[in-house]
Amino acid sequence: MPSDRPIIVLDFGAQYAQLIARRIRERRVLSELVPHDMPVAEIAARNPVGIVLSGGPASVNEPGAPVLDPAIFELGIPVLGICYGMQAMAQALGGEVGGSGAGEFGKTELEVQTDAALFRGIPPAHSCWMSHNDSVTRLPDGFRATASTPGAPIAAMENLERRLHAVQFHPEVIHTPAGTDMLERFAYDVCGQDGTWTAQHVIDEQIARIRAQVGDQNVLCGLSGGVDSAVAALLVHRAVGDQLTCVFVDHGMLREGEAEQVVETFGSHYKVPLVHVQAQRRFLDLLAGVTDPEQKRKIIGETFIRVFEDESKRLEGVKFLVQGTLYSDVIESGSKTAAKIKSHHNVGGLPDDMDLELCEPLRLLFKDEVRQVGIELGMPERMVWRQPFPGPGLAIRIIGDVTEERLSILRHADAVLQEEIRAADWYRQLWQSFAVLPAIKSVGVMGDARTYDYPIIIRAVTSEDAMTADWARLPYDLLERISTRIINEVDGVNRVALDISSKPPGTIEWE
Ligand code: XMP
Repeated sequence: MPSDRPIIVLDFGAQYAQLIARRIRERRVLSELVPHDMPVAEIAARNPVGIVLSGGPASVNEPGAPVLDPAIFELGIPVLGICYGMQAMAQALGGEVGGSGAGEFGKTELEVQTDAALFRGIPPAHSCWMSHNDSVTRLPDGFRATASTPGAPIAAMENLERRLHAVQFHPEVIHTPAGTDMLERFAYDVCGQDGTWTAQHVIDEQIARIRAQVGDQNVLCGLSGGVDSAVAALLVHRAVGDQLTCVFVDHGMLREGEAEQVVETFGSHYKVPLVHVQAQRRFLDLLAGVTDPEQKRKIIGETFIRVFEDESKRLEGVKFLVQGTLYSDVIESGSKTAAKIKSHHNVGGLPDDMDLELCEPLRLLFKDEVRQVGIELGMPERMVWRQPFPGPGLAIRIIGDVTEERLSILRHADAVLQEEIRAADWYRQLWQSFAVLPAIKSVGVMGDARTYDYPIIIRAVTSEDAMTADWARLPYDLLERISTRIINEVDGVNRVALDISSKPPGTIEWE
């Protein structure tokens, strides 16, 4: 029976803390990220099989550095310290940490003792990624050094008996080629996991949880057409069948064929009870003449809630609301007080007074894991690999007021763009690719006649998580095909431009 007990990663502020959890999960072991100051009793209550202390920017000898509660070592649970985590471990157990002079940054040659628990089956000499000023200068009692680099004679250490291990370098980054294997050694050999936390296991486990949570009550789920709400809905449907009703609000600002695909997939194929609300007119009327981006977002967000609320009131005895909350949202919420750049609108965001309990079957999963679950549930490839699409839809890709004519032009241009991007095998390499229509017109010439039409702007970006993004270097011949086809095929467009701004300072969407 696979274990649902996690390896807990304590985040000491490392750039790469999330990556540690992801790498462990890649080896099919559940791993969760928590703040470094979570009380030890709370950590213990989560019943972890192992604990990882992440790196962090501070120096353990600095006043105000994040503190590691030494009680963690009294739990009898295996611990792996990484970088700052290694130093904090050494200091807490009576070793010494000092400034090593120059420090080491970047790719560094590493020699390991291949009989150490973390390094079994790993070549004795290879490279690793270092990023440190301090290092362990004296081992705590009971430890031995298990690796060295030119600048750090104690680049790793272990106390086999107490199952405490540590590395000064970063095993979670790709520049430490054997790093994921080392994390696997920790997860499998030290923590006793067997790599059975698979998509199928997640499905079985979530189905059991949903059944336990929901019982024989009715459940409501808002579908957006995106992968998260789709996977969440399918999981819940597998668990409780027709106790689930999905509501799909068509606000009229979706892409070409999108509404049809949702209805086909859920209504016809999976036979999920589906209410398809055609609210296009209501939204368009409210948006008439509105040009301010925040105002547009506000109107769409609020109207969405009202429509959703009206529909759900019609359904009998609904007690639960499904939300496609992801693990990245869980990690981020609470910790950040970033300035508001845009008010986000998400499907399922409902007023408090609806009094529904949340059912969040994706709460533990990263986006790529959600996709794996989708594949395992037999969801169509096109839906599983769909690029993110904002809640307010095409309204925030029309710069100016939203009219039916502009929506129709943008929808058509976007469909051509998507078709060419897919045909050139670029779709999956891009975080997002889409068309933007600014409400300006310019002069052109077509068939000897003057034209005065809209331009279309191509936006294609690569990104890991949408926090930062870079404009994609699409090949010129692909750009040429997109441009020629849009100008020839889409009435009302006479010019195509390319957005070559990264984020920051640009955002991905134009509004
Ligand atoms: P920006 O434009 O802020 O977008 O760089 C970052 C990511 O978020 C998506 N986005 C939204 N998603 N509701 C959503 O569900 C929204 O209101 C919303 N606005 C932007 C955007 O497409 C990009 O992936």
